[in-house]
Amino acid sequence: MSLQLNRRQWLRTSALAVAGLSLAGRAKSFNRLESFEFLTQENDDLILLDQNENPYGISKKTQEAIAGEVKYSNRYPDDHTTELKKLISGRENVSPDNIILGAGATEIFRISGLLYGLNGGEIITADPTYFGFVSYVERLGGKLKMVRVDNEYKHDLNAMARQITDTTKMVYVVNPNNPTGTIVGGDELRSFCEEVSHSVPVFVDEAYHELVEDDGYSSMTGLVREGHNVIVARTFSKIFGMAGLRVGYGIAKPEIIREFSRIQTNFAPVSVLSLRAAAASYQDTDFISSCLRKNNEARAYFCEVLDKLGYFYIPSHTNFVIFKINRSAREFVGEVLKNKIRIRSFEFHDEQWIRVSIGTMNEMRALAPILEKMS
Ligand SMILES: Cc1ncc(COP(=O)(O)O)c(C=O)c1O
Repeated sequence: MSLQLNRRQWLRTSALAVAGLSLAGRAKSFNRLESFEFLTQENDDLILLDQNENPYGISKKTQEAIAGEVKYSNRYPDDHTTELKKLISGRENVSPDNIILGAGATEIFRISGLLYGLNGGEIITADPTYFGFVSYVERLGGKLKMVRVDNEYKHDLNAMARQITDTTKMVYVVNPNNPTGTIVGGDELRSFCEEVSHSVPVFVDEAYHELVEDDGYSSMTGLVREGHNVIVARTFSKIFGMAGLRVGYGIAKPEIIREFSRIQTNFAPVSVLSLRAAAASYQDTDFISSCLRKNNEARAYFCEVLDKLGYFYIPSHTNFVIFKINRSAREFVGEVLKNKIRIRSFEFHDEQWIRVSIGTMNEMRALAPILEKMS
């Protein structure tokens, strides 16, 4: 057995640590321990619908790119880094100096957490929002002010703005949000960022950006181009299917990117194989469109199942859907796991929720009768 913790084991370990640190302190608005209780069972036969991964794998072109690159594994990834930054900067209409690459979007918010979250500084974010960020800030010793989402489970930007004080170090907005799958409109978010970023940096986590089709949504990269104090984070872990290859990036003004690079210290944080894979998948637009189409179909099917079974769910713009249940979500996840399907439990606003990542149509069809039996 490997001595290194895999991600699921790590999540569980850190969840336990965080639970010990903070569950007592903050009401049970977001019970992280429950979310990870069942992550330890290792089994290749499991259908994994718990971490919002791309069920279609990496594309053939990306696999070929990795295979072709193996022979350069003895070299540092200078050219690869330049190549990927150039591709991203071309598509996003920014300069390569506006981009920092990292081992997933996680590394980008890890760096901002180090830069902004320590020394008693406060971070404003939504309740609920991405657990990985919340738990990281808590482990750093930063203070989180989590502002309840509105009645439609969207970020309540006005309420968040009201929470900003002299000690606020950063605002973290996830758009689309995880675990709710909701978006805040581009115009609304832009006005918020323009106003707030005069006093405090706004970190906009756009991990699910490529999955959104709603016309009202837009990325905040335009604000970076205009020189605002805004950091946009993206990832290759979702639609690009590269969660295991760990590539993400941040887009911000050059002054911020220089500060981030100083803290990152590692001049080559992503491997040649991952960088070449990212470059290939970024350009493999056919694969991305087909994943998007299949995700939409499977999500629509799953929502029909939830409708039929009478569950309340939050309409999602992503590759996951969260629905409410009237019993222990933790136990529910455990029962589903007995059928070799892994999903996630959440508890927020004193309610029990189940989040299901959208898998292939076959995977969703496998889950449907289990949910039916349990309802
Ligand atoms: C909102 C959000 N940000 C970041 C991440 C982590 O991304 P990465 O795999 O690029 O570190 C996730 C993963 O689920 C996520 O949901």
